[in-house]
Amino acid sequence: MIKNKKGYVADQAAGKAEEKRSGKILISNNGPYIVSGGLPLAKEYIVTDDDGISTEWKKGESYPEQDTYALCRCGGSKSKPYCDGTHVNESFDGTETATKKKYMARAERIEGPGFTLTDVQDLCAVARFCHQAGGIWRLTAESDDPNDKKVAARIAGQCSSGRLVIWDNETGKPIEPEFEPSVSLTEDQEKECSGPLWVKGGVPIESENGTKYEVRNRVTLCRCGQSENKPYCDGTHISCHFNDGDPEL
Ligand code: FES
Repeated sequence: MIKNKKGYVADQAAGKAEEKRSGKILISNNGPYIVSGGLPLAKEYIVTDDDGISTEWKKGESYPEQDTYALCRCGGSKSKPYCDGTHVNESFDGTETATKKKYMARAERIEGPGFTLTDVQDLCAVARFCHQAGGIWRLTAESDDPNDKKVAARIAGQCSSGRLVIWDNETGKPIEPEFEPSVSLTEDQEKECSGPLWVKGGVPIESENGTKYEVRNRVTLCRCGQSENKPYCDGTHISCHFNDGDPEL
């Protein structure tokens, strides 16, 4: 067990979750995500307030259960969310450019009087929940109110990409929501676009060459095909107006 200078347990890696079932995601070479182990698949919408700040996730349609399925990664399938082979005709370049370094080895730490925030900026999927309560950075730096710790933990838990994690200063442990292993197709009505796959609950993600990404409670995988940090989303789905055909967009 490795401890960093603040005594936090590094192998808990910011919400790292134990594998709870046999589900996993294999990233095929310039092709789709192969999801196996019967992981549930559903839509999930960002709900915003009158100021356009993201405040909640709202569950949408669930897809029929399947043990194994292939999800489009190039953004071009006509059968989204599933792959229809378009990546071949379009010569999709799905080269994985993201580092496999662990979250805690890269995280910036913002230490507050009541709790601590860790942040890996290049994981950001621009879901914008962190703007609540005047911004999670300000909240962390200024507050020792126990209620604010709960607010900050809720906001961090809504951060689909896992960029942000709140840590309890007393226990040194991350405060994470409990998620069943699952995959959500995110939709961003405020920005009028579809978003990444939100992979929850510690689902292992593996490259075709057998190397593995860190298992985490929250990660977002690009499904528009345009991220420069593949397989992770980098927010480009907003500027490229990715649309999976959702009727509510
Ligand atoms: S889905 Fe976000 S960059 Fe592709």
